[in-house]
Order: sequence, then C-alpha cells, then structure tokens
Amino acid sequence: MASTLYRLHTHLWRARNQSLFPAVIGARWMSNSQSPLSDIQHGRLEINKTSTPKKLPALETLKFGHNFTDHMLVIPWNSSQGWGTPEIKPYGPLSLDPSSTVFHYAQCIFEGLKAYRNKKGKVTLFRPDLNMARMNLSAHRLALPTFNGAAFLDLIKELVRLERHWIPQENGHSLYIRPVMIGTQNTIGISPPDSALLFVICSPVGPYYPDGFKPVALHGTTEYVRAYPGGTGAYKIGANYAPGVFPQKQAAKSGYVQNLWLSGPEHNLTEVGTMNLFVVFRQEDGTLELVTPPLDGMILPGVTRDSILSLARSHAAGTLRLPNLTSKLVISERGVTMKEVCDAVQSGRLVEMFGAGTAAIVSPINRIGYQGKDIEIPVEDNGMGPVSRPIWADLVARQTGEVESDWSVVVYEE
Ligand code: COI
Repeated sequence: MASTLYRLHTHLWRARNQSLFPAVIGARWMSNSQSPLSDIQHGRLEINKTSTPKKLPALETLKFGHNFTDHMLVIPWNSSQGWGTPEIKPYGPLSLDPSSTVFHYAQCIFEGLKAYRNKKGKVTLFRPDLNMARMNLSAHRLALPTFNGAAFLDLIKELVRLERHWIPQENGHSLYIRPVMIGTQNTIGISPPDSALLFVICSPVGPYYPDGFKPVALHGTTEYVRAYPGGTGAYKIGANYAPGVFPQKQAAKSGYVQNLWLSGPEHNLTEVGTMNLFVVFRQEDGTLELVTPPLDGMILPGVTRDSILSLARSHAAGTLRLPNLTSKLVISERGVTMKEVCDAVQSGRLVEMFGAGTAAIVSPINRIGYQGKDIEIPVEDNGMGPVSRPIWADLVARQTGEVESDWSVVVYEE
C-alpha cells in the first residue's frame, strides 16, 4: 500500500512537472493524515452481490454507454465523519432527496477510463492514477471532498474484478468505467455540501466507430464558448458538458457532427466536441509538427492527449519507433488560430487534424465550417492520417496489453 502511494505520489509529482495538470495550490492529492475525518479505506469494503445477474448483451447490440453491469460501487461522505463504508452492491437507482444540491447547482464531477480483457483473461486498466489525480482536482475546484486516490483505485479494481466477465475480449472492446461524485446536501443554499456520494458504474462498450474511422465535419463555433480564462474548462465536471449539447444540435442542423470550440478574438482552436484537439502541419523542410493547444486552464488535461504527446515525443527522441512514421516529427503545445489553419490548408501544409479522448481514442476531422465557408481538411482513404494512425496503433496496443507498457495496470490474471 505504502509503495502504491509512493508510486502514485511520484507519478503525480512528475505529471505536474510535465504540466499534465495545472498546479492547484492546496489540492489534497493524497490521504490527509492531519485530518480527523476518515479517508476512503479499501479494508472497509462491503460486498453485496446481486441475486439476479443480467444476461450479457450480444456484442453487436452494444451502443456506447447504454448497457450497465450487475454491480456498482458507492462511497458516502459527510463533513462530520469523512468517507464512510465503501459498498459494492447491485446496480440500481439512487434514492436522493429532491433538495440535493447536485440537482440545483450541478455539484457533479466525473471521470472516464477503460478496462481491457485479453484473450487469456488478463484484465488491465490504462493509466488509472491519472484519472484519480484529475478527479481530485475537479473535486477541489467544486469544493467537493477530495480523497485518497490509491484507495479509491483499489476499490475500483475490486469492482472490475467482480464484473470482469462483462468485459468483451474482442478487438476494440472494453469496459468503460464511470466514477462520479455528487453533492447531496439537502438544502436550497449554495455552499460546499455537507454530504456527498462517490459512485462508480461500468458499461461494456464496443469500438466507437464500428464501421471504421469515419472522419467528422466540425462547425467552427464562435457564438458559444465551452471554456474561458478562469473558468472550469480544465476540470471534468458535469457543468462543462450540458451547455455543449444545444450548440452541438445547432451544428448538426447545418450538417456538422461536432463543434470546434474557438476562443478569443483570434479564434484560437481549443477542443472538439468533448475531445482534445491535435493538428499536424508540414514545415518548409518537410518536418511534421504535431500541435495541441497548451493546458492554459481552458483545456481538459486528457489522458489520451497526454499519452499521444508522450508517444510522439518518445518517437521524436528516438526512444520509441512508431512504424510507418518516417518523417521528422516535432511536438508543440502551443496556440493555433483559425488563420493559421486556413493559411496552411491553402498552401498545402495542413497534413491532418483529429480529436482525441478516452471514448473514441482518435477521431479524424475532414471539414470545418468557418465564417460561412467550408474548409476541407486532408484525410487519407482509411480515415486517420500519417501521424495519428501510427500513434493510435501503438496506443491501442499498450491499452490492450499487446505491447508491454508501464501504463497498463493489471487488475486480474488467471
Ligand atoms: C471522452 O471522449 O473520453 C469523453 O470524455 C466523452 C464522454 C463525455 C462520453
């Protein structure tokens, strides 16, 4: 346990130094030994199994986030005692008072990560420590209780082990794990809640694009904003997502799949839909530049974003060889404006553009509707481009355990 905490702490320290997450003064990363309140404790776990397990869904019927496993993990918190007894119990409705603050003031944070099961039955998680760290940052930002990420992760592993038969073993399939925390104080007043609930549900999922990677068209959105300086764009909170639904519907009416969130007078590219954004430019000497906007407080520090940057940097440094990526590669975390994109398209220097997130992993972009015109973004026949495809292939191989990786955390082995 101590060594897990040490590893997590070291990892977080490194992650912060690599600016995976913006530094948050006073965020409680780890168990607070000074506090008289209980932290999350793996040893207190109670397991109450369902007596009516569900039939596993046929793989071809899986629709992202529509099927749920037999059990869920719940951990209550209150301000007088701290974190209570963790319980794995049958999946089912929560009973909440209508005055619960989550219903009024959106006191809700969440995470998304995946468990994979290989053909030999080995179950792994992908970089789950980063989700624990990010969830603590989100909790801190919303004045919800923080927690010992290592202990919470141990409990998530218990749930995944219990539900492992739900994880499809086929290529591109996984178990999407959704940790959520909500404020449950029964008061029509806005303050840090005196009670909260942390819970985890699991959903077996197939490939996000079952018929292959279909490039998406984006509406360059300036009439709505997803995030703004000093706001909450860098946190995974429910309130960042609901306001994006109406703009997405508006974009869909005009024939675009998602919003390309543009920011500021220069129309800086920030994110695409609910994903981080990458652009590849060809420089004059033929070098490819992989660019993503920096973590300036408006960008979600995505785990897929960080993994893509890290693999690309290793390739550029010569410590990893991504097959078929032969051009010289440089990696930049910097601002990109629509003017730069339009100019690069015109001069033939825009190589590709894609979204990146846990759900879809990589999502190629083929068109941007911007100021009344459509800008065509190059795509290869098979969807992904010359930089995204090799990175995606390596990333997926690490996620599924096909390629040995420190990022892959074993949860169960037969
Ligand atoms: C992701 O792309 O991983 C997301 O966060 C999308 C999720 C809101 C379904």
